[in-house]
Amino acid sequence: MAGAEEYVPAGAGIEELAAAVHDCRGCDLYKDATQAVFGEGPANATVVIVGEVPGDQEDRQGHPFVGPAGKLLDRALVEAGIDRTKVYVTNAVKHFKFKQAERGKRRIHQKPGRTEVVACRPWLLAELDTLRPDLVVLLGATAAQSLLGTGFKVTQERGKVVELPERPARAVATVHPSSVLRSDDREAAYQGLVEDLKSAASVIGQRQTRR
Ligand code: URA
Ligand code: SF4
Repeated sequence: MAGAEEYVPAGAGIEELAAAVHDCRGCDLYKDATQAVFGEGPANATVVIVGEVPGDQEDRQGHPFVGPAGKLLDRALVEAGIDRTKVYVTNAVKHFKFKQAERGKRRIHQKPGRTEVVACRPWLLAELDTLRPDLVVLLGATAAQSLLGTGFKVTQERGKVVELPERPARAVATVHPSSVLRSDDREAAYQGLVEDLKSAASVIGQRQTRR
């Protein structure tokens, strides 16, 4: 697997990247997915939120975080005082990974492996290079480890403001909204997510977009 590098147009702006991703063959995930789901949001966003991988709804609709996890994220962002319409939202991996249920048509979400995360990282780095955000919010271990390395432990470091390596931005990692939906104590898990997002919000204050 060669990775996405050769498919990423050098120096491209966000629209050019979003068009080019549909031709990516950097790993095998494009073969079974409906379409690539690229990041979305204003080009002058100062905050980038990174999830794991598009889910079933995202794969069908072609937009990030539009399914159940996205709905929960939207609520948590409102509570934390972050305006989603001013944020750029993307994923560590751009194609849906799933296995077909043994019976019926249901497609079961699969966690992307390290190989796929590394293969897809050039797209994420290109997004960061053109957007130049002040703050990157990392939802879950996949996103966090894509940018902060495999030694990064979300459980220990969540909510803390850290520096992003090699790029002039700060980062805050937290749990993935899907893990909140799966949690035994959803309310506590949700409050934890909101607290971490508030910590992220305090980094940027009111400046969610550049003039
Ligand atoms: N989960 C993610 O990580 N990203 C999405 O876009 C949707 C669900
Ligand atoms: Fe390319 Fe990423 Fe899709 Fe793999 S998941 S084909 S690297 S865009």
